[in-house]
Amino acid sequence: MDAFLIEGGRPLRGSVEVRGAKNAALPMMAAALLMDEGKLVLRRVPNLADIKSMVLVLQQLGVRVDRRGHEMTLQVVSEKNCRAPYELVSKMRASVCVLGPLVGKRRQAEVSMPGGCSIGDRPIDLHLKGLAALGASVAVERGYVIASARRLAGNSMYLGGPFGSTVTGTENVLMAAVLAPGTTVIECAACEPEVQEVARLLVRMGARIDGIGSPRLTVHGVRKLRGCTFDIIPDRIEAGTFMAAAAITGGDVSIERVDPGHLMCVTECLKQAGAHIETGPDWIRVIGNGMFRPVSVATLPYPGFPTDMQAQFMALMTRGEGISIITERIYPERFHHVPEFGRMGANIRREGPSAIVIGTKELSGAPVMASDLRAAAGLLVAALAARGETLLQRVYHLDRGYDQIEQRLEALGARIRRVDLKPESRSSPLREAV
Ligand code: EPU
Repeated sequence: MDAFLIEGGRPLRGSVEVRGAKNAALPMMAAALLMDEGKLVLRRVPNLADIKSMVLVLQQLGVRVDRRGHEMTLQVVSEKNCRAPYELVSKMRASVCVLGPLVGKRRQAEVSMPGGCSIGDRPIDLHLKGLAALGASVAVERGYVIASARRLAGNSMYLGGPFGSTVTGTENVLMAAVLAPGTTVIECAACEPEVQEVARLLVRMGARIDGIGSPRLTVHGVRKLRGCTFDIIPDRIEAGTFMAAAAITGGDVSIERVDPGHLMCVTECLKQAGAHIETGPDWIRVIGNGMFRPVSVATLPYPGFPTDMQAQFMALMTRGEGISIITERIYPERFHHVPEFGRMGANIRREGPSAIVIGTKELSGAPVMASDLRAAAGLLVAALAARGETLLQRVYHLDRGYDQIEQRLEALGARIRRVDLKPESRSSPLREAV
């Protein structure tokens, strides 16, 4: 199993280009299922384990997928199979994004329930509620969502839940609604840039959608969608992770091919913490001094502070000159990184959905274990600034969402090496482990 060996304390310097957004690419690939004719060509598709998982799901569902570098071409060759099996869906929750397109186009779907997740409960009741509102009959049987509809019809629905809007839920229902005759109104739609882009892609494919980017989406059903060529937006979370890494190491990094408008809240919080930030039309420069004023944040749906940046920001706050409170309002259990930060000398106390972070002067490298993609990113950010060596284990989590992260950090001056950890040495001391 791969691990990263990181020698911290080196300021990152230089420039780095951001890759396409994973969470836009995945539902867009699923949107290929909606096409009646032509090919969907997606540009700037990142090279990630999650993208490979989605390719397998789509191939199973009769989609031909060709990849050349960062360009992907998708074409529907058979509509016979409507089943996305557990073996594939359990590898990646986002495969649930095929549910809406299957119901919308093939009028039937059998998609495994995604199951548990290390960041907390992740129900899909709102996805199912939205599809039912469009006229699908939906049941959960033997671990599968079984949905079918002789015909769909536009309808009005409220898609908010106890934690606000749902990103993939909105995308799923939207993808089903574009081919449903009549008018659909989705209230409390998610406004994340990735959701907006899925809607824009659908419009390019022939759909009629008003209110893109607002919490009310109005869809006028059309009969057919066709292929098109579409550029994927930059990954704002990848960009934010580089921003945090630049700031915590006291570096000076220009993050390029990014949309600064997608990162207003993260930029604001980093500025409040004391990082110097300049922005241009498609770049962000972050200059850090390595120590920070404490800033309390609460994660919220877009344009609020993204939950996917919570662990990386917490890494920064472990070096704050005082106390900050970080509250999770999307996934109240998303704190598995807290004890791992503790292994690096951070002083953090959990209080329900909040973490109280008492800043410390220095983190020290240690063997740590990643529990999910963003926890891994947070630990990576901390390790880059820590004194001594960190062995970051389970980097397969990082490979799910960050394309060639070690090479790109190395190019910025980080000391980071991928090592193959022998099973028996996983929990042994750092020196013996590699
Ligand atoms: N929720 C419900 N019912 C539902 C759906 C969601 O109660 O039917 C709740 C969730 O439990 C959560 C909140 O609503 O408390 C928001 O969840 P959401 O549905 O928006 O999350 P998601 O669509 O499953 C996407 C991203 C996540 C990101 C969240 C929040 C993709 C593929 N995944 O997940 O990304 O954390 O939105 O922004 O778009 C990641 O990239 O590391 C990642 C986890």
